[in-house]
Amino acid sequence: MEKGELIWLNGKLIKWDDARIHVMSHGFNYGTGVFEGIRVYDTPKGKSVFRLKEHVHRMVGGCKIMGFDLEFGGKTYGEQEIYDAIMETVRNNSNVDYVKPCIFLSGEEVGLNPVNVPSSMVISAMFMGNYLGESDNGMKLITSSWQRPDNLCSPAGAKVNGSYITSCLAKKEAVRQGADEAVMLNSCGHVAECTGENIFVYRNGKILTPLTSESILEGITRNSIIEVAGDMGYTVEETLISRAQLITADEVWMTGTAAEVAPVTMIDGRAIGTGKVGKVSKEIGKKFHEVVTGKDLKYEKWLDYVN
Ligand SMILES: Cc1ncc(COP(=O)(O)O)c(C=O)c1O
Repeated sequence: MEKGELIWLNGKLIKWDDARIHVMSHGFNYGTGVFEGIRVYDTPKGKSVFRLKEHVHRMVGGCKIMGFDLEFGGKTYGEQEIYDAIMETVRNNSNVDYVKPCIFLSGEEVGLNPVNVPSSMVISAMFMGNYLGESDNGMKLITSSWQRPDNLCSPAGAKVNGSYITSCLAKKEAVRQGADEAVMLNSCGHVAECTGENIFVYRNGKILTPLTSESILEGITRNSIIEVAGDMGYTVEETLISRAQLITADEVWMTGTAAEVAPVTMIDGRAIGTGKVGKVSKEIGKKFHEVVTGKDLKYEKWLDYVN
């Protein structure tokens, strides 16, 4: 990651190195925050933020679940104001391909009662590049020993800061075993998702992905791929997927804002399909790239132009 120049904090743009919070802030101590990760792409019509409205909507939904007030620096924010603040941050940083807003309890408070603890919003912008590294030969996955926390433990459909320790543990487990990523099963033993990506399989001529009720994050890239792949003529089903179905799939790929479309060629030391990046994941990855970079204007509704 290359850091940006300015960070938006409670209504003001300040230098990256000056963006600080107190060590006793509730969010720092207990993970009480909700964040988003959003991509910025160059298109023929200038910079565009991919599906910004949907990202803001998901973040505001997460704040509703957490019961956060959306008042920052004495002003009340709705989805439009948060959208505008993100755009302002992108405009004021020169080399941005990723933007990360976060709303968190910034008040200094000891104890688990989050009622009446003041919140803050911070928006950082940076250059991330390729999140998972080179994927020409596909990614290696392990099945994590950590379980995807289900909806009875934490709101799986919201990007709540504290919930991400499970993803960090699973990612570390993967990296220690020489893999790129980890896939997590849910409490029923079904395939849920990866540490920061949803998962798709291509099996018997159909594209399958876990249902949103399987304790997954309802990914915006996932939603885009379901629509685009359907338009390309593929049958796409949201369903239950077992570990056996995953390992014996013809193709597997992950989707996420940071990872984009990342083909998987090995899981737990077993080759997926031919062990090479498959035709369908290649085709879908190529189409997704055309969509996000504004080369296929059929999906221009998803591009939020910066200027
Ligand atoms: C746990 C998890 N699953 C899936 C995703 C993919 O979601 P999206 O496509 O909205 O980035 C992310 C990334 O935000 C994530 O953190």
